[in-house]
This record gives sequence, C-alpha cells and structure tokens, in this order.
Amino acid sequence: MSKEWSALTRRRGETADRKILSLFDDADRAEAFSVRLGDMLFDYSKTNIDAGTRDALIALVEASDVAGKRDAMFSGAPINDTEGRAVLHTALRNLDGGPVTVAGADVMPGVLDTLERMRAFAEDVREGLYTDVVNIGIGGSDLGPAMAVQALSPYHDGPRCHFVSNVDGAHISDTLRGLDAKTTLVIVASKTFTTIETMTNARTAKAWMVENGGDPANQFAALSTADDKTADFGIPAERVFGFEDWVGGRYSMWGPIGLSLMIAIGAKAFDAFLRGGQEMDRHFRAADWRENMPVMLALTGVWHNQVCGHATRAVLPYDQRLGQLPDYLQQLEMESNGKGVTMDGTPLEVPSGPVVWGAAGTNGQHAFYQLIHQGTRVVPCEFMVAAEGHETDLAHHHQLLVANCLAQSEALMRGRAVEVAREMMQMKGYEGEELERQARHRVFPGNRPSTTLAYPKLDPFTLGQIVALYEHRVFVEGVILGINSFDQWGVELGKELATSLQPLVEGKEPPDGKDGSTAALVEFILRNRA
Ligand code: F6P
Repeated sequence: MSKEWSALTRRRGETADRKILSLFDDADRAEAFSVRLGDMLFDYSKTNIDAGTRDALIALVEASDVAGKRDAMFSGAPINDTEGRAVLHTALRNLDGGPVTVAGADVMPGVLDTLERMRAFAEDVREGLYTDVVNIGIGGSDLGPAMAVQALSPYHDGPRCHFVSNVDGAHISDTLRGLDAKTTLVIVASKTFTTIETMTNARTAKAWMVENGGDPANQFAALSTADDKTADFGIPAERVFGFEDWVGGRYSMWGPIGLSLMIAIGAKAFDAFLRGGQEMDRHFRAADWRENMPVMLALTGVWHNQVCGHATRAVLPYDQRLGQLPDYLQQLEMESNGKGVTMDGTPLEVPSGPVVWGAAGTNGQHAFYQLIHQGTRVVPCEFMVAAEGHETDLAHHHQLLVANCLAQSEALMRGRAVEVAREMMQMKGYEGEELERQARHRVFPGNRPSTTLAYPKLDPFTLGQIVALYEHRVFVEGVILGINSFDQWGVELGKELATSLQPLVEGKEPPDGKDGSTAALVEFILRNRA
C-alpha cells in the first residue's frame, strides 16, 4: 500500500467518529468545500472530508499522475492498452477545438464530416413522413440516447423515439405494436454489429417491416464501426454513420450513437449538448485540482468507497426527466471501473469501483430511503437538482421538489438523537419501557454523507456538462485505482456460455458436462415448454 493510501487510511481512523455537522462551525465550509463551473455548483461540504483529508486525496491524484494520464487520453495515446486503442470520445464534442491526432493523423475532419452527415439526415427525418424512430441497441448503444431523449423531452420536437434493447421478444413486440411500418425509421445501433441481442432484434424488425408494407432498404439506418457488416445486413452506405474504435460503447452518445437524440431535439440543440460536454473537457484539463469538478467528484467517490469502505453509492436526481440517469451511470461506472486487476495484471489492493444505483426523487423516498436513513449500511448519496423546472406554470411543484431534495441531505447529516425521539414520544403520552421502545424506532443515526450537484435548468448544454462530468469522474477514479477503465472483459464469459447453452435450451443437445443445477434448469424449461 502506497504512503498516500496509508495516509488516507490514517485520516479515516482519526475522523470516523466526528460529526459532519460539527464541520459547519466553520462558517465558510459550504463555500470552501464546493466547486463551481459557470452556473453549476458541486457541493461536497456534507461529507466528512476536511482540509487535511482533501490534501491527502489530492496527494493521491498527484501520485497517480492523473494530469499525465489525462493529457495522454486527450492527445490520442493508446491508453486502453488491453485492446491497443486510443480513448477519444472527447473528439466527438471537440466542435472548435483544433486537431486531435491518432497515430499521427488528425481525426477531426472525419468526425466533423460524419456530424454534418448526421445533421442532414436528422433534418430529413424530422421534415419527412416519419412518425416514429426505433433505436435498436443495447448497453452503450442504448442507455445514453434513451436517457438523454427522456432528459430533454421539453426540446423534443421531432418524431416519437422508442428504444429496444432486450433480446426478450416482449421488448420489440410491445414496441412495434401500434407503429406504422410505412412511417417508422429503424436505427440499428451497434459498435460491433455482432451483438446477439441487437442483431436478433434488428432481424425481427426487418421482417416486421416487410410484412407490414414498409421498405427496409429505405427505412433502416446503421450506427457502427463495422461497414462490411452493415452492408451485409442490407443497409445502404448513405444511411450508415460510422465511428472509430477509439470511441468506447459507453462513451459513444456524443457521435453517431446519439442520432436518435439528434432526430428528437434537432441538430441545434444537439450541438448545445456537445458544447456542454466540451466545456466540461476544457474545465477538466485546465482547473486546479481543488477547483476541478470531475476531480473533486472522483475524490469524494474514492474517499467513500475505497477509504471508508462504503460499497455502494446512490445517484438521486431530483429531476424526473433524469430518471434513467442512474441506469446510464451504472454501465458507465460499473463497466468501466468494476475491474479486479491493475494495468499490469496484478490484483487490486483496494476495492474496485462501487455498486452504483438510484432513482429519481421524490419517488425513491417512498421506496428505499428507509434503508438509507436507518439501515446499518452507510450509502453515500449523490443528489442532483435544478434551480428551475420547465413547467413554469407549476412552480409550486418544483419548489416542493427542491425542498424535498435539500431536506434529505440535511436529514442524512443531522439525524435524530434518542433524546429528541424520547421527548417526541413523551409528548404523545408514552411512558416507561414502551416510551423507550417506541423512541428507539424513531432514532436516525445521521452523520451520513452526501453531495449535491445543482444547476439552473436541465437543458441540452447542462445535460452535456453532466454526462462529461461523470465520464471524467470515472476516468480519474480509474487512474487512481491503476486500472483500465476502457475495456470490459468481464462481460465475455457469460456471452460465451450463452452461445454454448443455446442448443441445449433448443433441445438439440443434451446438457452433458453441465453442472447439476444448470442441467436441472435446462430440463425443467424443456419439460414445461408448451
Ligand atoms: O455488454 C458489453 C458491451 O460490449 C458494452 O460495452 C456495449 O456498450 C454493448 O455491449 C453493446 O455493444 P455494441 O454497440 O457493439 O452492440
């Protein structure tokens, strides 16, 4: 364990019993433990991080060479070294940022040319006869655009957008039912164009279109790095929007994979989304560590997860339209930083990235907040809230929403002492042992950490900032852990086994060689199939 990690472990030991609330004896704490970028505010003052701990965390940033690795990423170096690839999703939003080279060649002319083709195509679709767009993709080819289309629904003035991801026939069947095959555009989104779920759904959609009088040759588009495979599928080159292998699937919504979003909100609003991301890139590259929002967001994550040992974190947007953000971040963070070995193949000495989960507030309050407040596990919470909603005629709804968001972080920090609970129950007429018993159920331990990201309004620019903020947070946490955040070998084994199980499930091969549980499950399924 390096001296920087040891210093942090020591600080944790020294401060674990301290009340977060006591840190506010310093009247400047809220300001000193916040980061601003334009109109956006990231407040981490309701954590147990003090000036000394922050210095110790920043020492870890220095020791891990975050600056060097960040610059290597932006410069197109092959930092995804188990796949020998550069990591340049930032080039997709580099609207006016100059050349970006990979192996000596500037990639920007190609990026801007594809963007221009997307704009022309999106405008055609928006002005044409299409009533519906169905994006077929999974993982990074689904979660980003699906999340963003919902997030930006006030800007949605194009055709309706639907997202099909699951290979469960229920998904495509429920989606296509009621759509007109003659006025539906199907977008097959797959970086590799081999993903079994996507290709199965794409074939089903093609058959549906043919059966219902549509014309797949003119009503299908593809988003992929694999030109040969899109051609084999029968999608003409002018409807194929390509990208390079230096765009990772879960980082890909800024380019062609974002086509459904561009069709929904128009090219101008999509540009604003890109510019929001680009602004975050500039900030990430230039700001001092203490003023650097992605870095400080990452450090609160490292403090809570690797140092304090809190294994999960909840993402809690008080913004109904960000309801799919926790799912999106689940892939971004868990596929990126859920690794067991460092770059050189040696086992990690600290826990890997956390379990990321959550839901929009206030709904979550009526579902899982009970555990967050009184359960025995500490769940660091990441709140998000806009100063203003889009529904100006419903401002009182928004005020209630904001009040609830702020109330939760305050309640988590303050808690309720047993003395206060006793007093409450006494007022209600309880006494003796029953008073004590009832009071104990009403105690809140408090001292539970949270952060809050506040922004003026959820518009395309702000969404771009938020997504890029989290991307860079994941990058910084990955560098500190010394892992490769850009591969995903952990998804392979399940895929291989699914392929080998298919003939068994079809009843074409006996389950020989399978473990007893798997064989019995195959047998049960076969026996109970109509
Ligand atoms: O689940 C693994 C994965 O490779 C993800 O990383 C990716 O986002 C998803 O599958 C879809 O891949 P593709 O875009 O190639 O269909």
